[in-house]
Amino acid sequence: MTGLTWGMIGGGEGSQIGPVHRISAALDGLFTMTAGALDIEPEKGRDFARRLGIAPDRAYGDWREMLAGERDRPDRIDLVTVATPNATHYEITKAFLEAGINVLCEKPMTVTVEEAEDIAATARRTGAICAVNYGYTGYPLVRHMRAMVARGDLGKVRLAVVEFSHGFHADAADADNPRMRWRYDPALAGLSGQFADCGIHALHMASFVCGENARELSSDFVSAIASRKLEDDAMVNVRMDGGTTVRLWTSSVAVGSFHGLNIRVFGEKGGLRWAQQWPDQLHWTPLNGRTEVIERGSADSPEAARATRIATGHSEGMLVAFANIYADLAEVIRARVAGRAPDPIACHYPTAVDGLRSITAIRAAVDSAARSGAWTDARPPSLRAG
Ligand code: NAI
Repeated sequence: MTGLTWGMIGGGEGSQIGPVHRISAALDGLFTMTAGALDIEPEKGRDFARRLGIAPDRAYGDWREMLAGERDRPDRIDLVTVATPNATHYEITKAFLEAGINVLCEKPMTVTVEEAEDIAATARRTGAICAVNYGYTGYPLVRHMRAMVARGDLGKVRLAVVEFSHGFHADAADADNPRMRWRYDPALAGLSGQFADCGIHALHMASFVCGENARELSSDFVSAIASRKLEDDAMVNVRMDGGTTVRLWTSSVAVGSFHGLNIRVFGEKGGLRWAQQWPDQLHWTPLNGRTEVIERGSADSPEAARATRIATGHSEGMLVAFANIYADLAEVIRARVAGRAPDPIACHYPTAVDGLRSITAIRAAVDSAARSGAWTDARPPSLRAG
């Protein structure tokens, strides 16, 4: 198999998500890191890229230089990951899509609904792949939950209760730390803090598992650390377009909670429970029956099987979950090059349309919170008909 080439923008030395992408993209040997504009400080970015083994002429100082350097090369990168702060995602993603280069954009895809509509339309028009990194949907047992719902094991889903609450930003004395501060600064993070940062993962996961999208929502936002301009805690109720109700709590001041991403799904024939900190066990309780623990590796769906690498009982975790997004993208890119249809299971990766739905939900949650929780349409303007 021919390896694909990959570049990254942002994700420089010391960044939070950069190392996860580098390891995940390389994990299966599908992508080789070939180009990068890794840091807001050009020289730091070039130096780090060279230390990662990128050739000096592809260790760029900023993303515009990288676009100019890559767009006309015969061996240009097959995929670029955008892992910069939120407010920069739109112009970088748009520019690479316009050049026909496939993009995996970090979430939130953009800051405004208008920008998100434009990215979705640009991806459609150019034919370039635009994926959004809701990487937690790459866990084998999350994919298995989706398969169980789709094949009717739960019957009609009534409720999903999702939570993404951590305590890493709870120290008021450290609130000025620049790594944390941008997340609550509207100029850099956009309209929303914690809901856009983490809550949106939980909402996307509920959509992914239930196979439904947000129709309307009602939210309550709080800045528990008063100096923050954006919320650090939110409670959101969502009515989905297939009739499921989603209850969502997200917080960054939940001391004692670490990476608290959890989902429970309750259907008319049974319930499921999964927590990201214990990702290898899925709890399944049929109506009036006993609870069964489904171990990763013993889940009976092709979706879970494709996402699983090593034997039951050994941990895989977040790096493999993100690697599954890269593996999906590699399959789709290769299928295009070969002129064949991709494996349909690989087409479950989150797309620009999922990114657009998320941004619209963020906008709706901000508006709802400002109007004391008034129910607010959460559908993208371009997807409201029907
Ligand atoms: P961070 O602040 O730790 O790192 C940001 C990196 O981007 C730094 O290396 C910085 O020098 C670089 N950078 C900033 N502006 C740049 C520019 N214009 N050009 C090139 N490099 C630039 O931020 P973190 O936590 O890594 O977040 C980055 C993005 O990833 C955010 O959009 C965030 O929402 C997302 N994220 C996603 C996660 C997920 O689970 N999918 C988890 C954590 C972050």
